[in-house]
Amino acid sequence: MKSILFVCLGNICRSPTAEAVFKKLVSDAGRCSGFEIDSAGTAAYHTGNRADHRMRSVADKRGYRLDSIARQINPADFDHFDLIVAMDDANFHDVCALSAGSGAELVRMCDYCQVFNVSEVPDPYYGGEAGFHEVIDILEDACANLLRQS
Ligand code: 4NP
Repeated sequence: MKSILFVCLGNICRSPTAEAVFKKLVSDAGRCSGFEIDSAGTAAYHTGNRADHRMRSVADKRGYRLDSIARQINPADFDHFDLIVAMDDANFHDVCALSAGSGAELVRMCDYCQVFNVSEVPDPYYGGEAGFHEVIDILEDACANLLRQS
């Protein structure tokens, strides 16, 4: 059993979508029993909220149901999860600072991209609908490769 935690800033746009995209790939591959998959935010602003309605709407059109409830990453996550996957550089630096020598492996989501030549999943929060589609495009690319390597 491999446990993976996807992390962004608010846990209402990118990381809940990464969670849903990866869960669907795992399910389609018949590998559900091999994974525990969750997401969290480095910030607590949106704790207890559903994913952003714009992100949910675009995800829905693309075949993903976002049903996670936002939560902030906490110290126990670093002992519990095998792999912590950060969406952008700021998230990566924040989880590195919080990890304090834990056993979790810390990585960047875009290190798994094969089609997109990007280093970060861009924050879509202050932009238009195209940004939410771009998030899913990048996550589909990265999650497919993450699954292949897992
Ligand atoms: P996320 O997007 O980190 O992908 O969930 C954001 C959500 C909320 C805010 C920023 C980014 N915010 O500033 O409230």
